[in-house]
Amino acid sequence: MGAIKTLIIGSGGMLGTDLCKVFPDAVKLAHRELDITNREQVLESIQRIKPDIVINAAAYTDVDGCEDNRDLAFQVNGYGPGYIAEACSKIGATLVHFSTDYVFDGSRNEYIESDTPDPINVYGKSKLLGEQKIAENTADYRIIRISWLFGIHGRNFVETMLKLSSQMDKVKVVNDQFGKPTYTVDLANKIKDIIELETGIYHLTNDGVCSWYEFASAVIDNAVPCTSEEFPRKAKRPKYSVLVNTKTEPMRHWKEALKAYMKERNK
Ligand SMILES: NC(=O)c1ccc[n+]([C@@H]2O[C@H](COP(=O)([O-])OP(=O)(O)OC[C@H]3O[C@@H](n4cnc5c(N)ncnc54)[C@H](OP(=O)(O)O)[C@@H]3O)[C@@H](O)[C@H]2O)c1
Repeated sequence: MGAIKTLIIGSGGMLGTDLCKVFPDAVKLAHRELDITNREQVLESIQRIKPDIVINAAAYTDVDGCEDNRDLAFQVNGYGPGYIAEACSKIGATLVHFSTDYVFDGSRNEYIESDTPDPINVYGKSKLLGEQKIAENTADYRIIRISWLFGIHGRNFVETMLKLSSQMDKVKVVNDQFGKPTYTVDLANKIKDIIELETGIYHLTNDGVCSWYEFASAVIDNAVPCTSEEFPRKAKRPKYSVLVNTKTEPMRHWKEALKAYMKERNK
């Protein structure tokens, strides 16, 4: 049997770039090379490349932007993954796709993989449609729900805090939304293990729960807590969208992962 051929879609994004390091021999397609909203292009590319595994890291991730650009959100996060799944099914490839804690409404304490999603913003609804379209179009998928990503190769909360901290005396950060920060490198390194598991939905995050304020306080020393009401955003955010992983080994605590991130960024 020949070597396993992997295709990474959305290879230019924050997670996509770290996935490329874990899968150096993969065929990589960035946004300019493949638009996942173009069904014909998706089918043609995947049928031509004939990968054994397709990892889709492409998405429209601007949560507030999704409220204004609803159609684009549903095309990229909903229908696009469905086209990729259709193409994977045609050639017998395994699809690895990323979804989000924002498919849940955040009214409960914790969510396991089998809990019923009920998103409260357009981003969450569009990502849930993506999960549904994948399950409709292929039987061989790993949908990995992740949360609060930080990685070297993208705009992320840690960098935003460092920037604001250098510009302001005090940085107000919401202390009533809770989640699990997750380092893109840790996530990328786990994908090979998940591929070996059975088809289905997985929750995968670094260990440990915190509020955005607690997360900020681990990065900067001038964060001050505030409520979501004091910091209105276009999209509603779930209050407590904590993903519980019941299917795989837990990953290290987010504080350990943050240390590794800081070391890497300061190199
Ligand atoms: N960031 C988080 O906190 C977070 C939390 C939970 C789940 N996730 C999920 O994790 C995955 C990776 O997120 P990320 O933070 O790495 O995202 P990201 O940095 O925004 O990267 C997404 C990539 O997708 C590309 N893209 C956008 N529209 C596309 C299209 N129509 N066709 C092809 N490519 C397209 C973007 O290209 P352009 O830049 O050129 O548009 C970008 O390179 C996504 O599925 C996201 O929903 C992220």
